[in-house]
Amino acid sequence: MNGQVKFIISQKHSSEQIESQEWKKIDRAFKQFVGLDHIKDALKSLAAWAVVNQKRKEFGLKTEKQSHHMLFYGNPGTGKTTAARIMADLLKELNILEKGHLVEAERADLVGEYIGHTAVKTRELIKRAEGGILFIDEAYSLSRGGEKDFGREAIDTLVKHMEDRSGHFICILAGYKREMHGFLRMNTGLKSRFAHILYFPDYSLQDLNTIAVNMFYSKDYQLSRHASERLLRSMREMDDVSGNGRFVRNLTEFIIRSQAVRLLKCEELTKKDCMMISEDDVVKGIEKYKKEKQDQ
Ligand SMILES: Nc1ncnc2c1ncn2[C@@H]1O[C@H](COP(=O)(O)OP(=O)(O)OP(=O)(O)O)[C@@H](O)[C@H]1O
Ligand SMILES: [Mg+2]
Repeated sequence: MNGQVKFIISQKHSSEQIESQEWKKIDRAFKQFVGLDHIKDALKSLAAWAVVNQKRKEFGLKTEKQSHHMLFYGNPGTGKTTAARIMADLLKELNILEKGHLVEAERADLVGEYIGHTAVKTRELIKRAEGGILFIDEAYSLSRGGEKDFGREAIDTLVKHMEDRSGHFICILAGYKREMHGFLRMNTGLKSRFAHILYFPDYSLQDLNTIAVNMFYSKDYQLSRHASERLLRSMREMDDVSGNGRFVRNLTEFIIRSQAVRLLKCEELTKKDCMMISEDDVVKGIEKYKKEKQDQ
């Protein structure tokens, strides 16, 4: 190969190109992630850019210094942690990240109790995230205590390492919309350090329903047609849905437990029985869910 590295693109036949293996991996990674097309596009393009940059390096071409740090904001349960986890796995599969693990952290993991403690804690955390993603939830809590708070030191240490160790780990700061806006306003230098600032909007009812159905299927359950229609109808009638994937997860778990109670009252069970969720399971599961919510 004359010392040259070949960019392998699988080809159907000489004139017709089909997608590279890398693109297939990128595309596949987000298949189960419902809705949020703009998020998927942004994350896919970031992954593609990282792969091509690596190829360019192998070809001896000029490459940009890449920084993939990101900021995710949106209401609870809108998929921020899930998106970060998918990205960590994908970048490992593409050999962009060495380990591809996700280190989830919050204020207490970064901020210490005396002078000098915070820098040490933050550095240790970053070290743990090397080769993967450091995901800091409710990042604004770092700047809540004002000038004298050690949170400031954590931000400074983090920012320094985001630059010095860029390429060795990815930092994702996450949090809710209003608080995140305030946080960026208070830390004006911060915004420019993120490759993507992504807003996770609330899910539509249709998306929530798809998330629910996918959750059942991924756990080897099937919904009868009536059950599926009832689920959609009930979700439409509930007023605390608030665009939230976490709510859907809870709801599916209540429904699965209702099915279990129904099944154990039968004498014999088939594989199909164990898989099928009936309309009645949906109704009972939702009743239980509502009751527990009321009691809280
Ligand atoms: N787009 C999606 N496709 C499939 N499942 C999703 C999607 N978004 C969220 N979920 C599911 O909803 C649940 C909550 O999502 P996740 O924990 O990622 O939300 P979050 O934005 O990190 O919430 P929080 O801000 O409260 O930490 C998870 O169980 C996840 O599997
Ligand atoms: Mg989360």
